[in-house]
Amino acid sequence: MQTKQSQLIKPEIETKIDGLMAQMTLLEKAGQLTQLGPSIVGGFDFNAFMENPDPEMFKNAQLDFHEDWIGKGEVGAYLGVQGLDEINRLQKIAVEQSRLGIPLLFGLDVIHGYRTIFPIPLAEACSWEPELARKTAEVAAREASAAGLHWTFAPMVDIARDARWGRIAEGAGEDPYLGSAFAAARVRGFQGDDLSDPQHVAACAKHYIGYGGAVAGRDYNTVEMALQTLQDIYLPPFAAAAEAGVLTFMSGFNDLNGVPTSANRYTLTEILRGQLGFNGFVVSDSNSIGELVAHGYAADRKDAGKKALLAGVDMDMVTKSLRFDIPELVEAGVLPLDVVDEAVRRILRVKFLLGLFERPYRSSAENEAANTLSAAHLELAREAARRAIVLLKNEGGILPLSQEKIRKIAVIGPLADSPFDMLGSWAFTGSPRDVVSILSGIKSATQAEVLYAPGCDINGKQPADFAQAIEAAMQAEVVIAVVGESARMSGEAASRLELGLPGHQESLLKALKETGKPLVVVLSNGRPLALPWVAQNADALLETWQLGVQAGPAVADVLFGAYNPSGKLVATVPYVVGQCPIYYNHPNTGRPSGDFWFTSRYIDGPFEPLYPFGFGLSYTTFAYADLEILPGAKKITVSATVTNTGTVMGEEVVQLYIRDVAASRVRPVRELKGFQKILLAPEQGQTVVFELEVASLGFHAEDMQYVVEPGQFKVWVGTNSAEGLEGEFQVR
Ligand code: GLC
Repeated sequence: MQTKQSQLIKPEIETKIDGLMAQMTLLEKAGQLTQLGPSIVGGFDFNAFMENPDPEMFKNAQLDFHEDWIGKGEVGAYLGVQGLDEINRLQKIAVEQSRLGIPLLFGLDVIHGYRTIFPIPLAEACSWEPELARKTAEVAAREASAAGLHWTFAPMVDIARDARWGRIAEGAGEDPYLGSAFAAARVRGFQGDDLSDPQHVAACAKHYIGYGGAVAGRDYNTVEMALQTLQDIYLPPFAAAAEAGVLTFMSGFNDLNGVPTSANRYTLTEILRGQLGFNGFVVSDSNSIGELVAHGYAADRKDAGKKALLAGVDMDMVTKSLRFDIPELVEAGVLPLDVVDEAVRRILRVKFLLGLFERPYRSSAENEAANTLSAAHLELAREAARRAIVLLKNEGGILPLSQEKIRKIAVIGPLADSPFDMLGSWAFTGSPRDVVSILSGIKSATQAEVLYAPGCDINGKQPADFAQAIEAAMQAEVVIAVVGESARMSGEAASRLELGLPGHQESLLKALKETGKPLVVVLSNGRPLALPWVAQNADALLETWQLGVQAGPAVADVLFGAYNPSGKLVATVPYVVGQCPIYYNHPNTGRPSGDFWFTSRYIDGPFEPLYPFGFGLSYTTFAYADLEILPGAKKITVSATVTNTGTVMGEEVVQLYIRDVAASRVRPVRELKGFQKILLAPEQGQTVVFELEVASLGFHAEDMQYVVEPGQFKVWVGTNSAEGLEGEFQVR
């Protein structure tokens, strides 16, 4: 059966590759396996940038691109080169000066937008609308390719179950079924249907594999898991990306059960090539080949390069090991030439499929100007942003705010007017200058007088002085407090030991609460935050994550009711950091948490999360009724009627969960197996039907075979993972 991956093997291209490789020297082959980043040789203080990131700081950097290597055909790809002219200048050296004129592949982290920065992926996934993610990825590809790029190191599809891990911001949360839908959608958006279309880019499923399972939520930390868990929880989004035709994978930094993922033959060859049939190429994460030495898995760089290639890595991101050491390893008979040839073939295959040999130079200044930050792109950014917002609390229906009754609003908090922090992590191609802040969005959306005071800084480096904030609050009819994390507090190398509001922010909220004014808390953050006091004491609570360039208008749309929030959590929100890792699809244990002393619980806090996976409120309400289950040998039809029982139109994400009650391995108490987002007018009802494939109810057994075992299954249709209409069926 033809798959997207098998369709990557085109005889006419393979023949061209044969002809090219027959001419290549060993050094030229080593060059194709080498991805360089520009070496910063001056004019840039990295630590200063990390402390106070400003994209303008790149402008003064003096970079070394090793142009001599390009001219000798000893480089295959670049990352980190920005600007159409610079990319085409380097490409010209490769195409016109090197002996065989093989074009370079230019890649960059275009994770949630290029110039039009969209919500961070974790936020976007809360829309539960994969088609929306496909659209934003398509726009990101259009802007990135207009800027000369061929390849993005996205989507990040790592399952994340621990909010301490800062990279939870970059993916689609904790669930394999939802994560798979977003992985496939993002690949389709980036790559399009025609791989040679110059308005699309090659995608990259990363970080293969298990990276999000880092012990203690500490980035780059070791990962231990059962191979059944690897197959059933962490692999599905990668498999979905492969099924969607993704052209590249990126191996990770982490070791997995003792073997680093950038030299792990079981995952890189047996699973990726054998089980998934992947025909693109694998690039290592930045210097992760060189880091095999630090792992204690390789004796030196040469040993590392050999082990990575033998395991199934094809391209070396910036270690330069393959460039320097392959010729010697092959000539010494230590590394088989056919291993090198297969890696070269995979890389040339992607370059041919992208049309780089026919069209090595992309775009033009006019095309870039016409395709960047266009009105249509900004409108999509606003739509994606408001659909990412999750309403967590709305006591007494304080929201949406009444435009008629409210004459004075106090907007307080360090994130109210903080454009840079709205961009979130992995947005260095964007600019805070393109961001509409939450304060600006509110001011533009209301006739009321808006008073503003930051109240405190984000991280508590400045002493707390709430006087100005309290004064503003006392004059207003409602307080909107915008608090959370800076963009630097999530993403790579940004693990946290605590999950509360950094600095003096919670104290600021308590001081605002003391004023007795209605308190609407707007969170802007890159991970789930454990905020029990806020959940208890805010009158309304909006989780807005980091929403990108249209953060302000999107938040205002929800605050004033221009958009009825429809987001649902894709990662469990813990009550306290001590519960991490915490996720909804957990086994039951023999002593599930309960009132009895000797059960799986804590003596100093709750077992339940603050908010469960799939949770999110609306300005209206929905009722579920009439669950029906029609069993079948291959398919089970499950339906329920959902009615809008409120007074305004609203969208509901109807979720379907199952539980395999007794199996040869303990199974989760809930597994998401379907979702549908529907729009209902007041009093309107709709029967939502799910066709549940029996084949999808299985798991990997002790012998590592995927099985669907006969027996009793429970099923729920509901509004989140903790509630819903319950039924059951038998699998024969
Ligand atoms: C980083 C990240 C990876 C990124 C790569 C290139 O260390 O782990 O996600 O794509 O390097 O920037």
